[in-house]
Amino acid sequence: MSFNKLATLANKRILLGMTGGIAAYKCAELTRLLIKAGADVRVVMTKAAMEFITPLTMQALSGNRVHHELLDADAEAGMGHIELARWPDLILVAPASADFLARMASGHAGDLLTTLLLASKAPVALAPAMNQGMWLNAATQANLDTLKSRGCTIMGPDSGSQACGDVGPGRMLEPADLAEACAELFAPGWLTGLRIMITAGPTREPIDPVRYISNHSSGKMGYALAAEAAAAGALVSLISGPVNLAVPDRVHAVHVITAREMLDACLGGIDGQDVFVGVAAVADYRPAEVVSHKIKKSADTMQLSLIRNPDIIGTLAARSPRPLMVGFAAETDNVTAYGEDKLTRKGLDLLFANEATSTFGSESISATALWHGTESDQIMSNVLGPAGKNLVARQMLRLIHTKWLAAQQ
Ligand code: C5P
Repeated sequence: MSFNKLATLANKRILLGMTGGIAAYKCAELTRLLIKAGADVRVVMTKAAMEFITPLTMQALSGNRVHHELLDADAEAGMGHIELARWPDLILVAPASADFLARMASGHAGDLLTTLLLASKAPVALAPAMNQGMWLNAATQANLDTLKSRGCTIMGPDSGSQACGDVGPGRMLEPADLAEACAELFAPGWLTGLRIMITAGPTREPIDPVRYISNHSSGKMGYALAAEAAAAGALVSLISGPVNLAVPDRVHAVHVITAREMLDACLGGIDGQDVFVGVAAVADYRPAEVVSHKIKKSADTMQLSLIRNPDIIGTLAARSPRPLMVGFAAETDNVTAYGEDKLTRKGLDLLFANEATSTFGSESISATALWHGTESDQIMSNVLGPAGKNLVARQMLRLIHTKWLAAQQ
């Protein structure tokens, strides 16, 4: 293990929760490694943990008083249990015993560590350590599934010879491996610093003050791309039509209604973007004139005169310099053929073609990625999904990132 791999631990606040298991002795070395990498470590021990290693040892290594009582008048006067819950960037429970996993999975708060875990918003990593039979038991596995589904990261366990003489899975990871796994949790995302502008949702084109033309786009695909890109470290600018979705964390959003407002918002922020992804289902036409009062019904038929809206992605693709341009094509028939035509006609670098009616509003999607090959007229393709929009969004971002890296050479 190189020391560099632990660089992301510098100045991180790590709360090390220790439960009862023979592997507790490994926490002495683990604490030393975390401190050496620049982390600030506070230790919380259960009663059972203190049977295996003394609080004094952990205090000497962490440089901080060890916490073990839920109701501790001294601690509450200094760093009480709620302050302690707010303090860490990461809570690492190591060793995490079978009993502790069961108590955590069922939401117990009978001691300081379980209470902290219930109260804290910090990410949680668990390093299980137990006899192989206990590890393989269906009850333990069910508890782990519950904890995973709540977002806990499970580190290990290793397989091999155990303190009890058994051989099998259940050994706690070695301190160096645990320190490295913690460092990885703080590693910057694979899209760190990439600037991405994404359009999402439908546009609405007013007919009069109470009516408009629009489409069934829910915005879910564009929002999933924005959320996944931001989670991977990208700087995301989301230009959104009217949708019923919450703006994802760390995403900068501009809300618009019409296609022309969407174009203006895109033009206002396009300079300096690395990638543009047009997911929005932009209305192709708008009423030629917007009537200023509510139109009254009279004749059996009425004519609505429509004019073309600007093609946002086409307008942006024609600029120079321009970001990597990624389009979408939702079609009801000839999905791939129409997609290939749009890729070329709109001058795009990558296009995702999908079937429209089964996708609008749905939680899942299947899409065909299309891009130009190195030979002239050659179009390459790759089918993504069917899968949840978030998973397909990650696959799309991987392709986008590969294309962007290639364009930098
Ligand atoms: O022409 P069509 O609407 O099928 O093309 C789809 C692609 O073009 C999508 O990426 C969509 O966001 C974009 N588009 C646009 N401005 C329009 C129409 C579509 O940016 N006016």
